[in-house]
Amino acid sequence: MKTPICDFVREYAAKSTVRMHVPGHAGKGPLGFEAYDLTEVKGADDLFHASGIIRQSERNASRIFGCPTYYSTEGSSLCIRAMLSLACRYAYSRGKDPLILAGRNAHKAFFSAAALLGFGVKYIYSDTYLKCAVTPKDLIDFIENKGVPTALYVTSPDYLGNITPLSELSQICHKYGILLIVDNAHGAYLKFDSSLHHPTDDGADLCCDSAHKTLPVLTGGAYLHVSPRLTDVFNDGNVREALSLFASSSPSYLILQSLDAVNPYLKKGFAADLKRTEKRVRELRRRIVSLGYELSGGEPLKTVIKPKSYGYTGTALADILRKANIECEYADPDHLVLMPSVNADESGFTALEKLFSGIPKRRPIKKAPPVMAAPAATMSVRAAALLPSEEVPVGECTGRTASSVTVGCPPAVPIVVGGELIDESAVNVMKYYGIKTCRVLKITPGFDNLG
Ligand SMILES: Cc1ncc(COP(=O)(O)O)c(C=O)c1O
Repeated sequence: MKTPICDFVREYAAKSTVRMHVPGHAGKGPLGFEAYDLTEVKGADDLFHASGIIRQSERNASRIFGCPTYYSTEGSSLCIRAMLSLACRYAYSRGKDPLILAGRNAHKAFFSAAALLGFGVKYIYSDTYLKCAVTPKDLIDFIENKGVPTALYVTSPDYLGNITPLSELSQICHKYGILLIVDNAHGAYLKFDSSLHHPTDDGADLCCDSAHKTLPVLTGGAYLHVSPRLTDVFNDGNVREALSLFASSSPSYLILQSLDAVNPYLKKGFAADLKRTEKRVRELRRRIVSLGYELSGGEPLKTVIKPKSYGYTGTALADILRKANIECEYADPDHLVLMPSVNADESGFTALEKLFSGIPKRRPIKKAPPVMAAPAATMSVRAAALLPSEEVPVGECTGRTASSVTVGCPPAVPIVVGGELIDESAVNVMKYYGIKTCRVLKITPGFDNLG
């Protein structure tokens, strides 16, 4: 498999062409890789009107994933906005207002799309705020009681390594003409796993993967996949237009090269490395369990420890790891998430096992996360995003309306979203997760709901 983007850029750099064009570093500088950072010069193609090397490279990716695949150099965040704008287009073209039914553990990019596009949102709640197992029953109940939404939006895998079974959901969606949109930011590698399915193989209509999270790709590199079933509606022009609606007009050629360069490895070699790493992760998990730790989540590349029963919070355990020069993916009071790369060295696993075996077991911590009632919306996400707002200490938020999402990254899954009333139970949850301040609407007489 060829790497047309890398080949072009390397050739351009080797020619030492006099660069009377951007970027401003002119191919030279302190980083050492500036020569490979390019703009849309002749022959370099144009991501959002691709017809040359980028299109060829995306075709290689499409062959690997078995469906039309588009590159993003601005992460899954860009793909999420694009997917939701395509869902809006789908609804409007059928004379309907867009309504998205979403598992509440959606990443904040979903809510920024809601603010930008103004679609209606209804949520499915379950479990904790980070976890939401959307079931066929949830979908059927919604259809029977509230009507047929434009799309079902599922985040799978979630931050805690839970995978939502999609095939039955997709059958129900397709029966009712509902789009199945999947935030698969954490699951690009599932395409290469021999026992699990990538969402596109389970009937997802639109799906994003953060290639940079689980494949050896530079940060920002991501894919938007479109089901071949829908290419008459979401044709090449529509999809590129949806992406460019929210994207920079200067996509990073470094990231494009990274997406291009990984294709031959994905075609040959990656699956074997994945298998080996998954086996090593299973072994790591067995060792951790044998020490008395509790685990959760079933995703093969993640190890999600619930350390309270062992006497530690996830954040305390993360500090212990940090002192030993090991950095985890995510920690909160209840979880520690380890997410090794497919190319992780054996020495890292050995160091982890040695460290865990030296941590003394303590009395279990009984404190559970506070329970939170589903927040009541006083206005749309869009209206709240556009009204004047201010940052106030969390302790002063009770009774105020959130202006935007209330959590940073990771995990970037909001506790309260813009337009929702913050009650005492939400304040308790925010304090529990260490959130100090929150953006709320300014109390300004005369401003009405814009939504
Ligand atoms: C579940 C989920 N969706 C979407 C995103 C956004 O992905 P990206 O960083 O590629 O924009 C993240 C990032 O952490 C995520 O965890």
